[in-house]
Amino acid sequence: MAFPWWRDAIVYEIYVRSFADASGDGVGDLAGVRSRLGYLAGLGVDAIWLTPFYPSPMADGGYDVADYRGVDPLFGDLADFDALVSDAHERGLRVIVDIVPNHSSAEHPWFRRALDAPPGSPERDRYLFATGSGDAPPNNWRSTFGGPAWSRLPGGEWYLHLFAPEQPDFNWRDPDVPAEFLDVLRFWLDRGVDGFRIDVANGLFKAAGLPDAPPDEQGFKAESPIWGRPEVHEVYREWRKVLDSYRGDRVAVGEVWTDSVTDLARYVRPDELHQTFNFPWLLAPWSATALRKVIDDTLRIVPAPTWVLSNHDVVRHRTRYDETDPGAGLPRARAAMLTTLALPGSAYLYQGDELGLPEILDLPDEVRQDPVFTRTGGEIKGRDGCRVPLPWSGTTEPYGFAPEGVRPWLPQPAEWAELSVRRQEGDPGSTLEFHRAAIALRRELRGSLPTEIIWLDAPADVLMFTRGPLTCVLNCGDRAVPLPPHHSLLIASGPLPGEALPPDTAAWLSPPPPH
Ligand code: NOJ
Repeated sequence: MAFPWWRDAIVYEIYVRSFADASGDGVGDLAGVRSRLGYLAGLGVDAIWLTPFYPSPMADGGYDVADYRGVDPLFGDLADFDALVSDAHERGLRVIVDIVPNHSSAEHPWFRRALDAPPGSPERDRYLFATGSGDAPPNNWRSTFGGPAWSRLPGGEWYLHLFAPEQPDFNWRDPDVPAEFLDVLRFWLDRGVDGFRIDVANGLFKAAGLPDAPPDEQGFKAESPIWGRPEVHEVYREWRKVLDSYRGDRVAVGEVWTDSVTDLARYVRPDELHQTFNFPWLLAPWSATALRKVIDDTLRIVPAPTWVLSNHDVVRHRTRYDETDPGAGLPRARAAMLTTLALPGSAYLYQGDELGLPEILDLPDEVRQDPVFTRTGGEIKGRDGCRVPLPWSGTTEPYGFAPEGVRPWLPQPAEWAELSVRRQEGDPGSTLEFHRAAIALRRELRGSLPTEIIWLDAPADVLMFTRGPLTCVLNCGDRAVPLPPHHSLLIASGPLPGEALPPDTAAWLSPPPPH
């Protein structure tokens, strides 16, 4: 049986605000994405995932949605969206959109009506309002962005927001909420989207009675009063029915941060979501043992695996790898990507990964926009450093991200000049050309790659596995290791002097060495 397209797809995450600005207001937009589809098709990815572009006061970069069926004027309009989908499809690129069901914006008409309505009213029942005791909130839950997860209204009631106060949590036990989201899914499916990325997919239901969480269980846990409640799975069974009722293979990928792979697997049972992001891969330290454990756990438990190294919420992997071993970030990032692309399943790339962009750590405080920064009083710098607008061309800001003379919403550093698409294009040693070559090779091999891997004997700091005609070797150690004999080299993530694989380097070989 042929696999559905998403099973081994390369999905490119577009953080729309920071990808390409066609309108000239310093913020990326849908027309900007549309103008760069040729670049994405040339990169060889199969699909794009667009982060939220819906009408929003932008308290959390658009993850505070005020209207689930529209486009914020900042990003364009529905006609721009339709044109983007149609052009993408023409180029063979699928389109996944972000759906944010855990919370809305405080500016959503439902929440505005709830604020105007009395306690106990049907309008308030769509969100999680509760009474506290005295001046204390209803329970001890903390917001993921810092501070309490409750805000108090002048009338005395409190409302829950697991994120910013501008993002009130829905009450999924109120029948209006599930009904609304089924309709929203249909709205975008009817417009031709190929799937959804589901924000905070494990958060929708909270334990009945909203009990205190054990103090050490505020983080993302498999089971807690806040995360991973069993009721959430019924929602995804309903969503799956809707997706399956459309032609083509429409996909749903869930954002599930959890401390347990077994928990992760619950979301991808045959009648639920198709995929969840594999965050353990992103969290693993640079160690052959740690990486191998994630691969083994994933392939053992997850039926349709994904592999993720970066996204718009985490420090870019080049910089993460640099933190433990300064200078090693870029070679490790390239080696990790080559290993990622060798694994069975789909790979989610974050915009700029292919350019080897680092995290921008020294953004001035006054330009930071992430609510994490303000809600922690600056103690946590937040996620702006991985959201700096992309460098396309040129040697000064806005580096082709926006029309000349326009200031991007976050300042771009001088080092963007060396990292731009134009600068790297055609240079065989560049990170961009390396990604293009690796992706092209994966496409070529696609039909012949089995879904299993076989581990081969290798020194302690080295990973070596085969997948049919492909062998992947990754050296996480600090000295070069000989490559197995009788192979030909398909591609390497860095220079290969002689027949040895240097530290922080990966290679694909063919045919596999005998084992
Ligand atoms: C996860 C999103 O990726 C992140 O950017 C956002 O802040 C939270 N969910 C809340 O919606």
